[in-house]
Amino acid sequence: MSDFKYKKDVLYCENINLEKLCEQIGTPFYVYSKKTLLDNYRKLKAAFRSVNPLICYSVKANSNLAVLNTLVKAGSGLDIVSGGELFRAKKIKCPADKIVYASVGKTEPEIADAIKYGIRMFNVESVPELIKINSCAVKMCKKVDIALRINPDVEPKTHKYITTGKKETKFGIDMDTAWEVFNDKDKFRSVNLCGIHLHIGSQILTPAPFVKAINKTSNFIGKLKKNNINITTLNIGGGLGIIYDNESPATAAEFAAKILPSLKKLDLKIILEPGRFIAGNAGAFVCSVTYVKDTPVKRFLIIDGAMNDLVRPSLYGAYHSILPLIRRKENDVFEKCERISDVVGPVCESGDFLGKERKIDVSAGGRLAVLGAGAYGFVMSSNYNSRPRVPEILVSGKIFTVVRERETYNDLIKGEMF
Ligand code: LLP
Repeated sequence: MSDFKYKKDVLYCENINLEKLCEQIGTPFYVYSKKTLLDNYRKLKAAFRSVNPLICYSVKANSNLAVLNTLVKAGSGLDIVSGGELFRAKKIKCPADKIVYASVGKTEPEIADAIKYGIRMFNVESVPELIKINSCAVKMCKKVDIALRINPDVEPKTHKYITTGKKETKFGIDMDTAWEVFNDKDKFRSVNLCGIHLHIGSQILTPAPFVKAINKTSNFIGKLKKNNINITTLNIGGGLGIIYDNESPATAAEFAAKILPSLKKLDLKIILEPGRFIAGNAGAFVCSVTYVKDTPVKRFLIIDGAMNDLVRPSLYGAYHSILPLIRRKENDVFEKCERISDVVGPVCESGDFLGKERKIDVSAGGRLAVLGAGAYGFVMSSNYNSRPRVPEILVSGKIFTVVRERETYNDLIKGEMF
């Protein structure tokens, strides 16, 4: 289903030969398939079509303007979490009524900017935040729509750093407090408390936690209704998992088949906020092997990319499959490099690795593609070790476009002085 495939033993992104692309661009870089982005968006839209959802792509997963533009032009809205993400949304002229705004720490200027742009809804994560949004709206003589983000205390069975719907986490509002807030809604004159938001975690492989969270929420919505408090929107968040290694996540259709019955009962406007599901397998991080270093205990493939470019392996112990751009044939005369190797970067930390104990047939000078890097890849990159951030390339069929230039050494010191 991915658009990264070998053709005659060379890895392609759609119809672009990645080995040739390396010669033109130099390594390392990120490359994205436009077709995969759109296919994933459309797959989800189709799976949930019976409730005609608004899909708000989660900008944090991959916020490149070309990626956002591709999805918004296809009809997607955006889920944002900061003033910076709102700035990006405005740049590509995302319709304001397709923008929802989460985050536990929205500041007053960020709130005011979003009200001014007329976004569809704030997903509110605490009572103090609700008070702040209300007072901003009063000052601006506006009334704004609000969904309360409920923390349903559900176990999503994922990495603990990306578990968000358990009561110990900083996210959302517990049901008892939410109940009080809804019943006190007349205290907040300039907000319209009309929605409920859920986002229980990321890289979730089965529909069960979603169903559990939605069912808990439906009971809550029913209780509200009995008290004459009517909800119009339910945002079920993102979190749908993808394949990195040997996981077998539910497909969009399988997620939908289990989740839809609970949603249909509710008769509400449904919003989804997928990030990884849309962008994850649409991108690869491409790098070159600088040295092959043999030690008495291990072989290291030292590459020109590093943890600053793709931090997921170091931060979460995440697995990304790594493929050589040129697949060698059995009878190749070159010396093979098939020893089990760690794929490591040049950064001065032992945690700087993109893969451990991999069997990859490549020599120094050879190139590698780290797959599944379209979500939470470039966006989490940094300049650590004064390494310029890498370019991003968007491929569409036979055409590639550099959609973010490689940073220069001058970019590294921008704004600094001595
Ligand atoms: N909505 C909200 C409120 C979120 O916080 C997130 C992700 C999403 C939607 C999108 O979730 P997705 O569909 O992508 O799972 N850096 C981590 C992932 C962090 C996710 C943060 N929130 C990683 O690399 O795995």
